Amino acid sequence: MSKLFSTLAVKKIILRNRIVMSPMCQYSSSDGFANDWHLVHYGSRATGGAGLVIVEATAVSPEGRITPGDLGIWSDEYITGLERIAGFIHSKGAVAGIQLAHAGRKGSCAVPWKGGKQLGLDKGGWQTIAPSEIPYFPDDRIPRPLDTDDIGKLISAFRAAAKRARMAGFRVIEIHSAHGYLLHEFLSPLSNRRTDEYGGGFQNRIRFLTRVVEAVRSEWPAENPLFVRISATDWTEGGWSLEDSIQLASVLKGLDVDLIDCSSGGNIFDAVLPLEPGYQVPFSAEIRKTGILTGTVGLITQAGQAESILQEGKADVVLIGRELLRNPYFPFHAARSLGAEHEWPVQYLRAK
Ligand SMILES: Cc1cc2nc3c(=O)[nH]c(=O)nc-3n(C[C@H](O)[C@H](O)[C@H](O)COP(=O)(O)O)c2cc1C
Repeated sequence: MSKLFSTLAVKKIILRNRIVMSPMCQYSSSDGFANDWHLVHYGSRATGGAGLVIVEATAVSPEGRITPGDLGIWSDEYITGLERIAGFIHSKGAVAGIQLAHAGRKGSCAVPWKGGKQLGLDKGGWQTIAPSEIPYFPDDRIPRPLDTDDIGKLISAFRAAAKRARMAGFRVIEIHSAHGYLLHEFLSPLSNRRTDEYGGGFQNRIRFLTRVVEAVRSEWPAENPLFVRISATDWTEGGWSLEDSIQLASVLKGLDVDLIDCSSGGNIFDAVLPLEPGYQVPFSAEIRKTGILTGTVGLITQAGQAESILQEGKADVVLIGRELLRNPYFPFHAARSLGAEHEWPVQYLRAK
């Protein structure tokens, strides 16, 4: 029996299968608002059969955007547009999730198709913030280090964002603590050189994240799943490591986090990642041994590959990114190739 097409209950939420659409920025909003692009894009993947669709990194404050085109959730004005997306996803039998994010020192960039470089302050960019005065690229502007008051405000911003996500009808929140964005910057000793309670030893470096998790949990219904995406390693000597991630996973489990979404890298500009199919699976497999649910992601493009990962107990869900951009109907093809049952939209039954 296919594991990929078995249901997964997390708290009171049931995923119809273990295929999760990985959060992927569309850089297509104006002033943070969701629009028709987002509705059609996410709606297609829900129609296409994914079990959970996680809406892209959505910024909890304006300077938390990677680009001016990022989605926002820092004001109640955003709820209506997001609600439409969550509602449509649910009407197609998938579960709607949203990734709450702050870009930290990697914010203020042009959209990728305009080069992706950091924008000047006179070109629509903004002053970035970070744990310490260390830019991501050596020639980026020096980020402004946060004081404890700023950190408190950002924890409140994540809490308010969680409340808005609930009001918009999402059923899963993923906190973005990966890829070198703000929360990851605090975790890694290579980007966090603070000497206060948010820097130094492991317990101090994870404090911002754990406080964000507690704040989000306080606004998020107890029956709804909470995921955290991490970069399981910086792929750099002296940086955040798999051992740190394993220790962090145990702490997060104690704070009622349900699933660790195991990615890697993104915090050190010249780190070398061994990109090959399933290269991040070992992280998920190791972190899962702590007893928390895990998701794996990265160059997973084949049904058999996804099925094996789950059969071998290396993850509980498989997140698919670019393959779902190429093919929103990946789940239907995967079900067919695995000989698994999958419900089709009634409108498409003649194509089954
Ligand atoms: C266009 C694009 C946008 C992305 N945006 C996000 C994002 O918003 N949040 C995130 O955590 N990862 C983001 N990622 C990373 C993906 O979620 C995923 O981890 C990565 O693409 C590897 O999976 P894949 O090989 O299946 O694509 C993005 C990737 C792509 C290609």
